[in-house]
Formats: sequence, structure tokens, C-alpha cells
Amino acid sequence: MAMSATPATLNVLLSFPSPNQRRLHLGTSNQSSSFLRTHLVNTKSFSRTTMTVAVNASRFENITMAPPDPILGVSEAFKADTHEMKLNLGVGAYRTEDLQPYVLNVVKKAENLMLERGDNKEYLPIEGLAAFNKVTAELLFGTDNQIILQKKKRKSVIDVCVFCSLKVATIQGLSGTGSLRLAAALIERYFPGAKVLISSPTWGNHKNIFNDARVQWSEYRYYDPNTVGLDFNGMIADIKAAPDGSFILLHGCAHNPTGIDPTPEQWEIIADVIQEKNHIPFFDVAYQGFASGSLDTDASSVRLFAARGMELLVAQSYSKNLGLYAERIGAINVVCSTADAATRVKSQLKRLARPMYSNPPVHGARIVANVVGNPELFSEWKDEMEMMAGRIKSVRQKLYSSLCTKEKTGKDWSFILKQIGMFSFTGLNKAQSDNMTNKWHVYMTKDGRISLAGLSSAKCEYLADAIIDSYHNVS
Ligand code: LMR
Repeated sequence: MAMSATPATLNVLLSFPSPNQRRLHLGTSNQSSSFLRTHLVNTKSFSRTTMTVAVNASRFENITMAPPDPILGVSEAFKADTHEMKLNLGVGAYRTEDLQPYVLNVVKKAENLMLERGDNKEYLPIEGLAAFNKVTAELLFGTDNQIILQKKKRKSVIDVCVFCSLKVATIQGLSGTGSLRLAAALIERYFPGAKVLISSPTWGNHKNIFNDARVQWSEYRYYDPNTVGLDFNGMIADIKAAPDGSFILLHGCAHNPTGIDPTPEQWEIIADVIQEKNHIPFFDVAYQGFASGSLDTDASSVRLFAARGMELLVAQSYSKNLGLYAERIGAINVVCSTADAATRVKSQLKRLARPMYSNPPVHGARIVANVVGNPELFSEWKDEMEMMAGRIKSVRQKLYSSLCTKEKTGKDWSFILKQIGMFSFTGLNKAQSDNMTNKWHVYMTKDGRISLAGLSSAKCEYLADAIIDSYHNVS
């Protein structure tokens, strides 16, 4: 007797008490019968619990296939391509001139120190490594910033630090994404109904983060396709139009994906408007030191807001500037008007973190603490960061020159030189970006972003050919 493998079939089979009776009922004629025979007859225990293992209809039938991630999915597609000229300009990860991943020398040195010391692998506190939290806030705000200075109070004749007047709640996060996600959870819990304003366009993961945290968001204008520059008036108008007390997500430096940053004067105006509207600035700082080559220059936007005494949030990442992509090391800092508020905010951040991931990983935190806390390694790090930022600047320049040489219609490519950081926003649309990948094996995100950190001087000409072809021959 032929049978198909359905739950109904199984119910019938389960009513037969012995393996032999089941064998007779199944017969020998088709594949599904054979599947059931294998799973039912060879089963040692024939209790009902054991038999249900053989059900081949999944409980997860209604789960649809997720699309590949628009950024990290590009790397998977790149790996599958065997073309010799293939180029991965999708993910923002630094490569050497030979297009190999780069582990910084200071990172290796810090790891050696950790090995020599024989550091253990005990759990960190929920807020992370204290030495890391201290240096990360110092790096961001500047060591002499009043908001992170700890004041001593005299308890008795003996000078005792009984109360630290830190106005910043800093906790270690799982790099930029994890830190943003924690802040999003804080917003969801303590600012119900508040809106986050996000630049248009923005980094591909920002919307996912706020969607998953169930925080409402809308966009403010940022990119002007006509000038391939900043739509400053649009940005200001949209920030003004947002409900009072909204969170305004700002890229501290090297805006991702456009590479277009406001000028210092424009930052002042942005701060004016945010203050007028009682909004809360929320910075994403993923490239400190990596954009300009200077840690201080790249933190100037955040410091300008902090110097005005504003309350603000800042997510930090060490993926790019220390090349610690896989260590997932970063932080969320919440600057409050009072030390008391900062203490309470910190306690709630810990409360949110505990059920999400319990406590953060230690390895990356120790590397950062060792590099930033050691004057010799710190100075070596700055040199290496300048070297990386310098290589990116030089391929940017070479790509621009190659485009100018190959351009026959007079199109102006100078916007590429005005952008900063590891990305260039080419202005290519989705069809043109598809052509870059399908015809030229150049992997990039579909919004027209290319990571110059994944480009070598040797491949600038090839890339320029691909861009010129895609721009002029694909509509
Ligand atoms: C990028 O924008 O490419 C990086 O920030 C990597 C990522 O996580 O998306």
C-alpha cells in the first residue's frame, strides 16, 4: 500500500502497537513510505514521544526566507564569485594595498601584554571593563572635559572619594550596533512615543535597530543629489519641524554612506536648532580618528554639543579605528545634566543589557584599555590610524584622477574629493550598481556606496572603467 508522509499518516501508524504491524501497514512501494519505515521501524523506543520525531512537516513552515543583509550579504556574494578582477567595496572594512585584512601592530602588542600578564577570563560586570569605560569616555570627550572629571568630596579629615560627579553614564557595548541598540531600548522604555530622526540616507542598519526596538523614526533631508552634497536647508527645516523633544541621530564624523559632513559653522547651527526645539542629540561615532586621521578633530562635533551643556547620547565603535571588527567593542555614553541622573541612567542601561547579553566580552575591551592607557602604544596607534586614513585618501585621489582621464562628456567627479572617511557615495542608482557587480564584478551596496578602504591603487583604473560604463551606459 502506497502512503505519503503526512501527520495523518503518522497518527494511523501510531495506532499500531508493534514494529511488525507498522511494517505491514507501510508496504514497500514508494519513497515516503520508505522514509517513514526508516524513521519509525528503526526507532529503538516506540513511545509516542519518540515517534513524533519522524514528523516531516515543519512547525516553522510559516517562516519566510529573509533577504540577504544589504551590507554584510554583499561579502557573501563576493566570496562566491571566482572572477579574477573581483573587488569587494561593500562592507566598510580596511584592507592593505594587497587587499588583505589588517591587524594593527598596536593590537598585537596589546594582546602580547595580555598574554604575558595571564589575564583571566572571568565575567565582566554588566557595565563592562572599568578601565575601558574610563578611557573610552576620555577619548571621546577629551581628558580634561568637566563632564567626566571625578570630584572628590571631603567626608572627614581624610580625603575620600565618596562621590564621583561623572555626568556621563558610560557602559561597554557590543560595538556600534550593540551600543545603538541599547540606547534604542532606553528610549523605548523611558521616552514612550518619542521619535528618532534619521538622516536620509543613512547607514543600512540604523532603521533595523530602531524597528527592532519598536522606536518610531522618520527621516530628515541630508543628501542633495543635484550637488552631491549636503542639503543643509532641508536638514535644518526637518529638524525644526520634528515634534519637540525628538532624538536627532547624527553621524559624528564621516557620514555613512555619503561621506559628507557639515562644516564647523553648520554644526553650530544644527546645535542651535536642536537646543531651541529641546531635542536630544544622539551621535553615532564609528570612525573617530579614522576619518581625518586625528582623534580630536573627529570628536569635535560631539564636544561642541557637550560644551553647550546639552544632554546627549553617543554610541562609539572601535571596529574601524582599531580594526577590531570581530571583537564587538564599543560603548554607549549618555551625558546628563546631573551626576545623579547619570547614575540612574547607568543603572537602567545595565538592567537593559542583562537580559539581552548578560555582560560584554572582555578581549576587545582589554585591547582598547591597553592601547589608550599606555602612552607609547597610544602614540603608535595614532601613527597607524594616520597611515590607514592616508591610504584611503590616496586611493580617493587616484580614483578621481582616473575618472577625470576616462570621462568624455565633461561630467564633474570632484564630489568624490569633497567626501571624507572610508566611503564614497558615487551617485550610481540601483540598476547602475547592479551593472557594477554583474558586469564588472565590483561588489558594492545598492545605494551606490563604495568602500574606498577596500580599494587598492592598482585597481583604481579598473574601478573607474566600471563606474564610467555603469554611469553612462545604464539608465
Ligand atoms: C558598514 O557600514 O559597512 C559597516 O559599518 C559594517 C556594518 O556592520 O554594516
